[in-house]
Amino acid sequence: MDRRTFLQSSAFAAGATFFSPRLGLAAQAENVFELTAAPGTARLYGTDGEPSELWLYNGMLPGPEIRVKRGERVRVRFRNELEEPTSVHWHGIRIDNAMDGVAGLTQPPVMPGEMFDYDFVAPDAGTFWYHAHNMSWNQVPRGLAGALIIEDDEDPFAGADITMMLSDWRLNEDGQLITDDFGARHDFSHAGRLGNWLTVNGISLPEIPLQQGRWHRLRLINSSASRILEIAPSRFGADVIGLDGQTFSTPRRIESTLRLSPAQRMDLAIRPETTGTIPLEAMTGQPFTFANFVVGPAAPENQPLKMPPPNDLPEPSLDTARVVPLVMAGGAMEGMRSLMGEGKSEDDLRQMIQEGKFWVFNGKAGTDQTPLFSAKRGETLLIESRNDSAFDHAIHLHGHHFQVLERNGERLPNADWHDTYTTTRGETVKIAFVADNPGKWLIHCHMLGHAASGMREWFEVS
Ligand code: C2O
Ligand code: CU
Repeated sequence: MDRRTFLQSSAFAAGATFFSPRLGLAAQAENVFELTAAPGTARLYGTDGEPSELWLYNGMLPGPEIRVKRGERVRVRFRNELEEPTSVHWHGIRIDNAMDGVAGLTQPPVMPGEMFDYDFVAPDAGTFWYHAHNMSWNQVPRGLAGALIIEDDEDPFAGADITMMLSDWRLNEDGQLITDDFGARHDFSHAGRLGNWLTVNGISLPEIPLQQGRWHRLRLINSSASRILEIAPSRFGADVIGLDGQTFSTPRRIESTLRLSPAQRMDLAIRPETTGTIPLEAMTGQPFTFANFVVGPAAPENQPLKMPPPNDLPEPSLDTARVVPLVMAGGAMEGMRSLMGEGKSEDDLRQMIQEGKFWVFNGKAGTDQTPLFSAKRGETLLIESRNDSAFDHAIHLHGHHFQVLERNGERLPNADWHDTYTTTRGETVKIAFVADNPGKWLIHCHMLGHAASGMREWFEVS
């Protein structure tokens, strides 16, 4: 049974499992999972034609959904059956540093044929994900990603909880993933490697069953290497209830579009009023349908919308915060040349280009022995960032959540919690967080080619 058949035949079956590709990963009592990365195939382009050669977790696209309850211990025995080293990162989890899965920083890479045991407790409920974190620019867009859902003890959306992993692919005319241009300098120095095809849970244009009169939660995860998706939830009647795994205190009806950058998540609540088909659109230039809701007959009763409880995150103390500047620069469109005004010589630039480095944080291109900044445990950091490049970036901090306070000098009314924030050309963004998780943590652009070509540093909390 292929996944499309699975999707259709189980449309209104036992609730929460109806859409998420959770086959083959039964949690035992203690949440012990087996996860194997290996070459595999999947059809990305409709149901006909040759499947594409990919790299998959447990042979599935996306990888199996890992779903546990808040505070539970998660143990994952990971095996690498690829021909290159890899590791697994648990994106957005306030995790023990040793389990963060950053090859070369928090653990040695898992070599071909070897295994690694991940063992952690997820303190927050929400929509998270996991993905390869060694040469991620190459490994993630070949398929090495999956959803990590942490449930509350009591979930108001139980039985109507739909994970939608959105992935951008660069396919040739036969629907095969193009692989010979991974690492192309032009992609790295511009907007990253963009695709030409979008799938939802590995399926192109899926039909997602909903029930009339019932509240559903949609957990959107952008697992694309570089593609920013502009989502307009009000166009299909959905309210936004959380971002990056953190639930709001009240639902929001947002009339404008919201950017869902690589690695970001958006939780939506939707209660369809009538049966029929509702297209789900992204606003990439013009509306573009990437899935259809098929609304079936009424749920037994109309319930009110109940919000899950928010997570208990440490409030930044802004009056004692230490200010850390973060200047993003480089890239094509004069971005690299402008570094010459910032103390780089012509020779420095030539050297950078030779090494495939196009981007800098505070003038530094890429991880080395010294942290970009450090913090004493418990200290509040106020990061004042400025995007001096001509491109967008999606900045991710490992091990922590932060509040986005200000954009271009304007205070944001909600100071939402994030683990990844978007910044556009010329923009200044202020974020704050309590550095309370000891260890060495990565800070990087989640446009994976940007990270590989300079926008990747680390900070230390001790
Ligand atoms: Cu989603 Cu450094 O990762
Ligand atoms: Cu970037």
